[in-house]
Amino acid sequence: QIKPKVLITIFGATGDLAKRKLYPSIYRLLRNNTISKDFAVIGLARRGWSNEVFRDNVKESVEQAFGECEELDDFASHFHYQSFDVTDKTAYDRMKELVEQLESQYDTEGNRLFYLAMAPEFFGQIANSLQEYGLKETPGWTRLIIEKPFGHDLDSAKELNNQIRAAFDEEQIYRIDHYLGKQMVQNIEVIRFANGIFEHLWNNRFISNIQITSSETLGVEDRSRYYDDSGAIRDMVQNHMLQMVALLAMEPPISLTTDEVRSEKIKVMRALRELDLDQVHEYYVRGQYGHGVVNDKEVAGYRKESEDLIFSNTETFVAGKILIDNYRWAGVPFYIRTGKRMPEKRTKIVIEFKDIPMNLYFKSEREHHPNLLVINIQPDEGIALYLNAKKSGSEALAEPIELSYKQGAMPAINTPEAYEKLLYDCMIGDATNFTHWDEVALSWQYIDPILKVWEDEQPNFPNYESGSMGPKKSDELLNQDGNHWWEV
Ligand code: BG6
Repeated sequence: QIKPKVLITIFGATGDLAKRKLYPSIYRLLRNNTISKDFAVIGLARRGWSNEVFRDNVKESVEQAFGECEELDDFASHFHYQSFDVTDKTAYDRMKELVEQLESQYDTEGNRLFYLAMAPEFFGQIANSLQEYGLKETPGWTRLIIEKPFGHDLDSAKELNNQIRAAFDEEQIYRIDHYLGKQMVQNIEVIRFANGIFEHLWNNRFISNIQITSSETLGVEDRSRYYDDSGAIRDMVQNHMLQMVALLAMEPPISLTTDEVRSEKIKVMRALRELDLDQVHEYYVRGQYGHGVVNDKEVAGYRKESEDLIFSNTETFVAGKILIDNYRWAGVPFYIRTGKRMPEKRTKIVIEFKDIPMNLYFKSEREHHPNLLVINIQPDEGIALYLNAKKSGSEALAEPIELSYKQGAMPAINTPEAYEKLLYDCMIGDATNFTHWDEVALSWQYIDPILKVWEDEQPNFPNYESGSMGPKKSDELLNQDGNHWWEV
């Protein structure tokens, strides 16, 4: 296994993402011996911190993630801080000096990873300044990781992409979607393509519908400035949910190379049926949480969470029906649902197989127990298959039984594990689990009509209680097709 040597520069080093995800991930990469000890990290942010203050923060964030840790001081000694204002041109010269100094101090072979973990309005400017000030000139490799949001709609995403592409090639750009680093999301293609019993049935002849639910118990927390501008559709659907759809729907790639896997996903994105404006209501439901009870605790509605949200029309819940117009999937709805302040934190995928033509073993004609395959993404990681059988000692002729497999998942939710994998992938130059520009563009193209209709209309919010599974209309969305959400 390659043990990369690298100098990582993090823009937004005092931010939430760096603290909660990046520092713990880098710690684990080092402790597990996955990266070389020849590494250094430069933290950049506005605050006037010293190296010491920065290192204390790094140590604290690692301890918050994992409890007491070994060799933390030694780890933190690799971290260096520079107070940095993105608009101040002299800052890049100072940064270059620090980069060159650290490259001779640590033997990082000129490999430079720039991580943009900050407000997207500066992405283009930073990318161009890195080029202009010679920070890309190095004997090693140069890569750029970009966090979402990647644009606000298709036009702004294109503009942003053009700005970044003026300085970096597509092969150097790593657009992160942390769902692609999750163990069970990566497992979707393995479950599909390594098992005859699934792959042969994985099409519109045998599958009735596919349901993806990503529910959260948390509310907006202290992210209202970002979140209120985005809403659930930009925050979760345009990226994470559509990525899962692509992995569930893609054709088997001819090999597992980055280009082959991405090109199969892109084909799915190209086949997403774009909605006409007057179809949006039929296919999409939005919601905003009101007051309610989550995990036995009374919580306030979204509009009460902060003063600037009082009149907010931002959705905190989305349910939608996606159709894929290709040979394999014509006629099979992919239902997606995601929201904040729901009863549990969980991401799961339910594949509902078509029912048998005649029901001999159930008492009532109305009883339907189609076979279900459930892929549990988090917090439990595993799969469950629901079959019908006669249980010993039971009066019933048949009843659903569950075959299940659970992977030893990390107990914490949204663990650094996903970031850890993706950081490593980037360091070894494997972009398979990062999103290609075409995927980003096609997903915005799909989302844009929904945004347009929602922006022009006044919603009747709040329309679901905190602690519930979302607005009633989300159930009706499936009922109109004769389906229902499986709460398994
Ligand atoms: C992020 C969103 O991308 O994903 C958050 O910005 C959301 O709003 C998070 O909470 C969910 O990720 P996970 O890994 O906890 O399911």
